Amino acid sequence: MAFSNSFLLLSLLSLLAWAAACPPQGQLSPTFYATSCPDVQCIVRSAMERVVRREPRMGASILRLFFHDCFVNGCDGSILLDDTATFTGEKNAPPNQNSVRGYEVIDTIKARVEAACKATVSCADIVALAARDGVHLLGGPTWTVRLGRRDATTANQSAAISYLPSAGANLTTLISMFAAKGLNAQEMTALSGGHTIGQAHCKTFRDRIYNDTNINPGFAAFRKRNCSASCGDSNLAPFDIQTPNRFGNEYYQNLVARRGLLHSDQELFNGGSQDALVWQYSTNASLFASDFARAMVKMGNISPLTGTSGEIRLNCRKVNA
Ligand code: HEM
Ligand SMILES: *[C@@H]1O[C@H](CO)[C@@H](O)[C@H](O)[C@H]1NC(C)=O
Ligand SMILES: *[C@@H]1O[C@H](CO)[C@@H](O)[C@H](O)[C@H]1NC(C)=O
Ligand SMILES: *[C@@H]1O[C@H](CO)[C@@H](O)[C@H](O)[C@H]1NC(C)=O
Ligand SMILES: *[C@@H]1O[C@H](CO)[C@@H](O)[C@H](O)[C@H]1NC(C)=O
Ligand SMILES: *[C@@H]1O[C@H](CO)[C@@H](O)[C@H](O)[C@H]1NC(C)=O
Repeated sequence: MAFSNSFLLLSLLSLLAWAAACPPQGQLSPTFYATSCPDVQCIVRSAMERVVRREPRMGASILRLFFHDCFVNGCDGSILLDDTATFTGEKNAPPNQNSVRGYEVIDTIKARVEAACKATVSCADIVALAARDGVHLLGGPTWTVRLGRRDATTANQSAAISYLPSAGANLTTLISMFAAKGLNAQEMTALSGGHTIGQAHCKTFRDRIYNDTNINPGFAAFRKRNCSASCGDSNLAPFDIQTPNRFGNEYYQNLVARRGLLHSDQELFNGGSQDALVWQYSTNASLFASDFARAMVKMGNISPLTGTSGEIRLNCRKVNA
């Protein structure tokens, strides 16, 4: 009796241990690399500390890289693949080309992770961790990253064109593009707060500062000084004038003051369904921080490759030979 009871207990315990080590197909787990690469989070974090200290904007750039990876066929590292003679990737799709940055940072982190744990950690997971650390290092919230994503063996340039929202998008389009990825309007509004850090090129906000009417006139005039109506496409402006390298709720305060940089930003506070939430976030930084963190976890869960799908790429820029 005692024997069969402890046998039962042991079987139960090993079943639980197995379940923890191999989460069900299609699901990610915070402890995915606990035995196979226990130092991975520490390696990514210390690399991001160095990078962000040298160039704070890089925290923003890696956050955007993650968003653009997840919105195109899921968080599968597909954005990292270089074009080849026979293959056209996502990084040169119009929403990404000369705009998404940080590929070398991911290469550097990947090299360090490979040195510690060969062929174990996906590029997709490295991007997810690096994005979390970038936000946190710039003063934003932190969250537990679920892991176990595998890397795509292909990329789809036309999907990058279809699924990434553009700066001219209206509220209806923004809500439906996020809904298509399983994120509701509230999550869309919280995630847009990623624009509390980083910069945009003149060509993305020119129409807004010259033609929109729901804009603070002083702000428009100020932005026109470095973004003329006819030239200077690649001149940069920070999303958040006050604290461009600090993750806070100033983005929403700016929207309330009609100082959103992109047309799409101001759509969130323009008499529509998201006004009340923008107002709340503008006055409650901790509410924004916790909603942002929760929505980031959800964004990170967008159709990952798991189990035996995809691969663990050795070089984030190319499919394994
Ligand atoms: C809601 C729809 C969104 C639109 C229309 C949009 C559009 C843009 C555009 C046009 C830029 C400037 C790109 C350039 O000039 O090169 C930008 C930058 C950025 N976006 Fe978004 N974005 C959206 C949502 C998001 C989300 C959900 C995140 C992250 C959670 C995010 C994070 C960023 C960051 C951090 C930058 C600055 C990057 C840097 O400085 O390198 N964006 N976005
Ligand atoms: C690429 O994405 C487009 C647009 O979403 C889709 O119609 C097409 O089937 C995809 N191609 C492949 C090979 O997955
Ligand atoms: C929003 O933009 C879409 C696509 O450009 C357009 O079809 C739609 O009419 C616009 N909706 C509103 C309410 O302006
Ligand atoms: C402003 O809108 C007008 C009319 O649609 C357009 O011709 C012009 O190019 C726009 N100006 C800028 C700077 O976007
Ligand atoms: C104008 O744009 C350039 C080029 O991006 C940038 O280096 C500079 O900081 C900008 N100047 C101002 C005053 O915003
Ligand atoms: C801010 O939001 C938090 C939830 O994160 C809530 O507990 C708190 O009461 C809110 N504070 C104010 C002043 O509304």
